[in-house]
Formats: sequence, C-alpha cells, structure tokens
Amino acid sequence: PYNSLAKTPPMGWNSWNKFRTKIDDATVRGIADAMVSSGMKDAGYQYVIIDDGWQGKRDATGVLQPNPNFPNMKALADYVHSKGLKIGIYSSPGPRTCGGFEGSYGHESQDAQMYAAWGMDYLKYDWCSASRVWKDADMQAAYQKMGEALQATGRPIVYALCQYGRAHVEQWGPQVGGNLWRTTGDIRDNYESMTTIGFAQSVLASSAGPGHWNDPDMLEVGNGRMSNEEYRTHFSLWAMIAAPLIAGNDLRAMSPEIHDILTNREVIAVDQDSLGAGGKELYQEEGIRVWSKPLQSGDIAIAVFNTGSSSVSATLTAQQLALQGRYTVRDLWLHKDLGAFPDSFQAEIPAHGVAMYRLHKS
Ligand code: DGJ
Repeated sequence: PYNSLAKTPPMGWNSWNKFRTKIDDATVRGIADAMVSSGMKDAGYQYVIIDDGWQGKRDATGVLQPNPNFPNMKALADYVHSKGLKIGIYSSPGPRTCGGFEGSYGHESQDAQMYAAWGMDYLKYDWCSASRVWKDADMQAAYQKMGEALQATGRPIVYALCQYGRAHVEQWGPQVGGNLWRTTGDIRDNYESMTTIGFAQSVLASSAGPGHWNDPDMLEVGNGRMSNEEYRTHFSLWAMIAAPLIAGNDLRAMSPEIHDILTNREVIAVDQDSLGAGGKELYQEEGIRVWSKPLQSGDIAIAVFNTGSSSVSATLTAQQLALQGRYTVRDLWLHKDLGAFPDSFQAEIPAHGVAMYRLHKS
C-alpha cells in the first residue's frame, strides 16, 4: 500500500448491513457515542464508516454535495474525531454507485481532496456501474487512479477496495494502494451465506499481511437472523481469517450477548495479532472443520467449527493439529485455562457452533 496504515485488520462499524441507504447525521453520531459507551472503542473498534446513500448532487464546479441528511460533513467528522474515533466514507469508480447515487468517475481527485478536507480517514470504493466505463482488464487502473488521488491529498486514508474478489484482486490490491479488498460478493445475515464465504477464505491466507488484508465482507453479528451461537461462529471465523472486523449492527441497541461477542478481547487478539498471518483450514471430518492461525508469540489459535445440526464432542490430537512440543490450552469463549494439551483432547461444540482455543507453548 501507499500508506503505512492498517498494520492490523481495520476494526470499526459500517452503516450498510443494518441501515442500507437510510442513514443520516444523527444516526452516525449516535453510533459513535455507542461505540464509546458500549466499550467497543476500548476493545479496539475505531472507524465509523458511512456507506452508500450519503450523496447529493454535484454543483456547477463538480463538487459533490452530501444530501440533506448530512447537513455538514466536516462537522460530523469533527464530532466523530472528538470521541477519539476515526471516520470513513464510500464511493465507486463508476458514474453511479450501487445505490444509484453519484460515483467518482471523472472526479477522482476532486472527491479525494474533498474527503481529505472533511477529515475522512477511510474510503470504501465499490465497483457497481464502473463496468460501463472501465473494462474488467482496466479494473486495476480504476483502483489505482483513486489510490493515487488519495495519496496526493497527503492525508492518511485507509483504502478499502470493494470489487467482490474479481480479477484476482489479492494479487494487485497492495500495488494500487489498497489496505483491504473484498474477496466475495455481499454477505447476508444467515448461517449459509456466512459460512460459505468464511470457509472459502482458507486458500487466500497467504495474501493477508500487515497493511493489506483479505476482506470477506462486514459482520452481520447482532442483525437478528442468526442465533447467538452462529454469531460466535461468524466472529471466530473472521478472527481466524485475520479479516477486518467491521460491525454492521445497531450499536445503540445491542443485547448483552451480542455485546459480549463483539467485545471478546481474546478472540479480537487473535484477529489483531501483529504477525498478521491468515488462518487456514487444517482438516475437516464429519461436519467438523478445524482451523489454525499462527501468532506472533509462537502461540497458535485453533478454532473447531461444528457445521452439523446437533452438538458433538470432537476429538483433537496433537498430530492432527501438527503440534511440535508441549502446549497449554486456553478456551477463548469460556475464558478459562484448561491445562496441558493431552495426547487427545475433547472439544464440546453445539450445533452450528465453535470452540476456540489459544495454545501456548510451555
Ligand atoms: C455493494 C457492496 O458490496 C456493499 O457492501 C455496499 O457497499 C453496497 N454495494 C452499497 O450500495
């Protein structure tokens, strides 16, 4: 990337999954307040990102005005910054965004300068309608154009590419300044969509690293169509992937269970580990999928996913986990030390659930 940002996967909140285009100044302020008061900021969440639907029309000089729901973008950014948080915004390289609003085509520098003047710290750059003016073969050039425009502002702005994993973005994303790039189409708030996306990320593990991350799309945790068990699976899998942790629920109205999932610091520490390794699937067996992720300290994170519809007691062996030497085990959802890793270890996992461990070399 052109910048030195996102040394660990970005953490924050984005308006799209819950609010779609029904988003306004007051909601964004309320979310920023809740990010602080709920303890999410202290747990590491930082970026408050306005997705599609903030745009109005361009004026005679081509400057894009926000719509009336955002009367003063600079004042909003100042407010979010006053909370010790950062703020992000959204556009598309096409003439229109996916929601049909003004895109940045032909106005890349002008828009980048405006984001910087407002105090934006993050740009999510979509793809919809870009295929009217850019060929797929020029996709890299389209993203490079905005990457250079952002760099030219002199303001550090995280650059999130959102072209759904097309054209092997993981091979050129960092070269166009990208700090993260979507690897899939849009997530939906159900177990099938979430796991289909999540389990497919193992093969991309080697593309992840400090400053440049695979993005399997934003979190649906707390949006209501999965069980809490399934949301724990979602959060654990994203942490194992070293995915950006961008919450997508209404932070102003969270149940205690959802709050505890989103702020599980031991799971977050796996995601945010400074080594920046993407996790990989070690093996699967009768509906059980076992992932591992190496950590900076030499510890290893292990997640055991039960994709079946009844609970299981899975047996894990040191050999299956490719362990060399002796380890102690900590359960990252029960927050409990379980002692030495024995020759064989039983993991009790509910239907569609997960058990997640940190193995510490002893
Ligand atoms: C498609 C993206 O994948 C979504 O995350 C969201 O940004 C919408 N476009 C907005 O129109």
